[in-house]
Amino acid sequence: MNKNRIEDRGSWIEDSNNRIQDAEKRTEDNGLKTGNWKPETVISCRDLSKTFTLGKLQVPVLKSVNLEVARGERIAIVGSSGSGKSTLLHLLGGLDNASSGSVQILGQDVQKMNETQRGDIRNQSLGFVYQFHHLLPEFTALENVAMPLLIRGMKRADAEPVAAAMLAKVGLAHRVQHLPSELSGGERQRTAVARALVTEPACVLADEPTGNLDRNSAEALFDLMQQLNEQLGTSFIVVTHDLELAGRMQKSLKLIDGVLHNAAC
Ligand SMILES: Nc1ncnc2c1ncn2[C@@H]1O[C@H](COP(=O)(O)OP(=O)(O)OP(=O)(O)O)[C@@H](O)[C@H]1O
Ligand SMILES: [Mg+2]
Repeated sequence: MNKNRIEDRGSWIEDSNNRIQDAEKRTEDNGLKTGNWKPETVISCRDLSKTFTLGKLQVPVLKSVNLEVARGERIAIVGSSGSGKSTLLHLLGGLDNASSGSVQILGQDVQKMNETQRGDIRNQSLGFVYQFHHLLPEFTALENVAMPLLIRGMKRADAEPVAAAMLAKVGLAHRVQHLPSELSGGERQRTAVARALVTEPACVLADEPTGNLDRNSAEALFDLMQQLNEQLGTSFIVVTHDLELAGRMQKSLKLIDGVLHNAAC
């Protein structure tokens, strides 16, 4: 590896550490920090349960889930359809409320945050790849990927080159001006991944990010995640049905009947 590359990598890591420290500082400032949080933990949940109510019907989906994701850790979550994987990711990302238990993101108790605080920590520290991409239909791929940077207050002229570079990394340099309706399913998914990675967040939560991709594109996406993980210390929590890709993560967990097990079960 040449000297410039080593220096580049050093400054990336420094940048990312600064961003995490900024988020931690804001956490201390707003009084949401909880006592038992370890600085090396990015996301954790304790006794997390979720029961949906449909009229008189109670649908228990998650039962007392405990999870701790360390900085720089890559975790796969597998489980059969309907086992609660998306529900768990939504709770960990502060997109939904638990029935009981707690979630902490960078030491902040998500349940105690208001909507603005949740939006802020998601924009500053998390990248979310939804199972059904959720791209904004009236915006181009480039504008969709630039959006989280604009929300952070970056100027459009500065954000667009960064977004274009991330789209190139996911193999979409030739599709930047396309609307979501003009992209294939796999291209939409890769655009959604680029949008999640563009802010270089502390943790990426990805729900079936390779579900619509062929083997080569899926491998390339996992390579990109691994690269960001090594360069920036980004943590990844990835829901996947692909056991081979799950095997590339450091830890693989399986949801069975709402309970989280080591994947060997
Ligand atoms: N808003 C809701 N109201 C009622 N039940 C819900 C709701 N959302 C999810 N569920 C139920 O919770 C269970 C888990 O759903 P979830 O989407 O988390 O599964 P999943 O593991 O992600 O499945 P898949 O692999 O098919 O994406 C399902 O049985 C589903 O019907
Ligand atoms: Mg799902």
